[in-house]
Parts: sequence; C-alpha cells; structure tokens
Amino acid sequence: MSVRWKRIFVVVCCVIFTLLCGCGREPEGSPTPAGEPTGTPPAAEALGICISDGAHIYSEPAKESALLGAMRLNEEIQVLKKNEPSGWHCVWFHEQAGYIRASALQIKGEATPSPSITPTPTVPVQPSETPQSAPTAAVKKRIALTFDDGPSQSTLRILEVLKQYGGKATFCVVGSRLGSRTDILKKVAEEGHEIASHTWSHKDLNKLSEEEVLEELKSVNQLVYETTGKTVAFLRPPYGNANEIVKQAAIRENMAIVRWCVDTRDWKTKDPEATYKAIVEEAKDGDIVLCHDLYSATANAMELVIPKLIEDGFELVTVSELIGSLPNGIEAGKSYRSGRA
Ligand code: NI
Repeated sequence: MSVRWKRIFVVVCCVIFTLLCGCGREPEGSPTPAGEPTGTPPAAEALGICISDGAHIYSEPAKESALLGAMRLNEEIQVLKKNEPSGWHCVWFHEQAGYIRASALQIKGEATPSPSITPTPTVPVQPSETPQSAPTAAVKKRIALTFDDGPSQSTLRILEVLKQYGGKATFCVVGSRLGSRTDILKKVAEEGHEIASHTWSHKDLNKLSEEEVLEELKSVNQLVYETTGKTVAFLRPPYGNANEIVKQAAIRENMAIVRWCVDTRDWKTKDPEATYKAIVEEAKDGDIVLCHDLYSATANAMELVIPKLIEDGFELVTVSELIGSLPNGIEAGKSYRSGRA
C-alpha cells in the first residue's frame, strides 16, 4: 500500500510541477521584438483573416509607430499572440513581427470582432479603445490629391486605388508626355477625375514671353479637349512659378492657378512611408496635396494613403470640387493653395 501511495504522490507532484512550469510561458519562438526581423517565423498561435480592407500593420502596438504595410480584405496572416496588448494582435508580416488592430482581424474559429465603426461590446475580442477615426457623416472633411508630371504607368495604379476606395483626384498632365498615353488620359476622364494643365513642356513660365506662355496653355487645353471632351479649368505651373504675365494668360484661357499647401516631396524621397506621413499625419479639411504620378513609389504610397484618408473621414475630391464650393467659386487668374476661404 505504502509503495502504491508513494507512486501516486510522485505522479501528482510531476503533474503539478509540469503545470507550474509549462503554463503561462511563452512558446518556443515567441514573437520577435518589433523592429528586429529574424526571417524565421515563430510558432503561430492562430490564423487571422483580414476583415478591414487596407488595415495597417505597425512595428509597435501604436498608430504612431512605423508603418510596415497593409492587408487586403480576406487576406490571411499568422497571429503570433492574440490581443497582446489589449486591442492589438501581434502578427508575422513580411518576415518580421508587427501589430494590427484586433478589430481588423477575425481569428479563425472565433467570433468576428465588432467592426470598428460600431463600438458595441462583443466577446471575446474587443478593441480596448474607441476608434478615433470613425467617419463623421455630418461634417465631411475634403481633401484634393493632385498628381503632377504624368501621365505614366503609375497613373493607372493610382486610378485603381481610387476606384477601389471611391475617391477622386486631379491629374496635372504635361502635354509633351501625352503622345502615346492618350488612353490613360481618357481613362482619367472617364473615371470622373479632373485633368489640369502642367503646361506643354514643363518650362519655368516666369522665363517665357506672354505668347510663349499662352502657347504652353492652349496646346494642352486643345489636346485634352480633343481627347476627352473636357475643358481644363486649372493650371498647375511648373515649380509653382506664375508671375503677372502667367496670370494674364490664365485669365485669357479662363483658367485659375492651383498651387498646394502640402508638399509631399515624393519625387525626392521616393519613399512611400515618407509620402504617407507627409499627407496623413497633418491632413486637414481643404488641403491641396502635391504628389507626382511619375513614380511607382508614389503609387505604392497611395495604396496606404487613400484607404487611410477614407478611414479618417476624408472625402477625396477634385480641385474644381474643392475650389468651386468657395463663396466666389473658381475665379480665372486667381491662385489657390487650399480650399479654405
Ligand atoms: Ni512638375
């Protein structure tokens, strides 16, 4: 009897010891600290399915941290740690650990978390904080994205993103680039975007005579009209340079001048994250944003920028829509930097 009881005692002790040591511990290969990619995926706790198209993945569980990328609707991802910290899942993304809002993922085999715009408490996965970015239906903020120096193949990618999320933009085309790209110009017009003039040859207009300036404007206006049936309402002068001669020429062509209040410098950085930050971090109602649809880096940036602006409650409008709603409407020869009165 005593030997049997001793054996039972030893077995019980072993079980208790195993439980104490094994539970609550990180599994082998638990999430790598953010920013230290190892390239080897650690053991995943679950599989997540993206339920919020364009959901962002950050390096830390904070919206202010570095952006690693975005997920598409129904895309699957390895979840390394669920709800840690609360409201965030740690995920394995592009060979490194990152964080995504818990509300953007459905864990396979679990109930769907509440959509972020309806913060009704739901068990078991619930974001801890009230979303700050829920669109406000009553007061819609408006922003005008403008793209200079195109068209190019990147224009087509930007058009796709705009179509997917339901936004409009303004494409400031260079006439001499249009030659074999009139199909892109037609597509821009057909999809409801605005075509503005970035002159025929992208010269500094301040260095040209009045006749030369007029020719730079007329030639583009004519080609755009012949190709799309649209009249051009805005001139985006190269380098932002528009002196009195340019202003008078614009009046003769019944055009206003559009500058910008947000300069992304995308042509210089060619860094989607820098472009994203330049636009999104301080985006305000009435902003006119300067980008360039000549670079694939800018098209990459738009895949993050456009869904984020929509998520933050912005309506993406054309320059004509933005300026046209000012008290005096669009005034020929006048220069605009934003849509704020
Ligand atoms: Ni330019």
